[in-house]
Amino acid sequence: VSAAFLKELTRYQGLVERGLKSCFPAPGAYVQRVRKAMAYSLLAGGKRIRPVLCLMACQAVGGPIRKALPAACALEYIHTYSLIHDDLPALDNDALRRGRLTCHKKFDEATAILAGDALLTEAFSLLSRKTLLKNVPPRILVEVIQEMARAAGIQGMVAGQEADLAAEKKKTSLDFLRFIHQHKTGALITASLVCGGLLGEGTAAEIKGLRKFGEKIGLAFQIKDDILNIEGKARIMGKKTGTDAQRAKATYPQLIGLEPSRILGRELVAQAERALKIFGEKAGPLNQIGAYILSRDK
Ligand code: IPE
Ligand code: IPE
Ligand code: MG
Ligand code: MG
Repeated sequence: VSAAFLKELTRYQGLVERGLKSCFPAPGAYVQRVRKAMAYSLLAGGKRIRPVLCLMACQAVGGPIRKALPAACALEYIHTYSLIHDDLPALDNDALRRGRLTCHKKFDEATAILAGDALLTEAFSLLSRKTLLKNVPPRILVEVIQEMARAAGIQGMVAGQEADLAAEKKKTSLDFLRFIHQHKTGALITASLVCGGLLGEGTAAEIKGLRKFGEKIGLAFQIKDDILNIEGKARIMGKKTGTDAQRAKATYPQLIGLEPSRILGRELVAQAERALKIFGEKAGPLNQIGAYILSRDK
């Protein structure tokens, strides 16, 4: 990826960081621990890929990115909730995330469960604020809410997480593996792009292109995640690598091997880029997101 792309990425990430801080819920009375745990995990410096994709998609269809900022923040809330719950002992049982102790290790399991519950709920609270109607037609806002809810729910990420657990220590078909990846990771990444396109008031053809793009890079993103779990540097990634628990998971490297996984990643990114054709020059930094996903070291 080019230096110009990395500069753009940093600019978008900055917008997201500021957005996340400014929309964070105010403290209430008596209890503080769950809210502290939410902030601990949310404001811990993730890559912010999903919100960045949302803003870039809005830009690509010619919308002003401020219209997509609340949705971008909601996506990062949902993603952070999914990480907190994914790390729990009942799921992946991980001790490190984003370079620090996982939420349940830093606080306790009950607090981590509630912090996840709250982040997921606050995401939809954020999205359904009346003030958003000043910038966004209600029809579009409802579509965005529906898109995000479906991606996170039982036809999306939750199904993927269930399938991921069901496939542990089992022989898995390539079809089932693709289902796992498309749901646990691909669904929210795809929704990020679609929501950005909707909020920018893109055409049906543009939204279709963004959806296709998201499906391809979403799969590539999880393949790279699994490659990094094998050969990445734990210190850079901020989470554990090469563990027995990770080896027990159904992944592309496990099923087809490392090099074929890398080749598949590149093929998916090439397909993704073809889906951006209708945008021409307007695709902007989206054109390099695929290359970034494959070359990232965290
Ligand atoms: C990690 O997501 C979990 C997956 C769905 C692969 P990210 O790699 O986007 O994690 P952060 O947000 O940068 O910490
Ligand atoms: C995470 O997938 C997917 C969700 C959180 C929905 P993984 O379990 O493969 O990701 P890491 O390796 O813990 O980041
Ligand atoms: Mg998992
Ligand atoms: Mg995990």
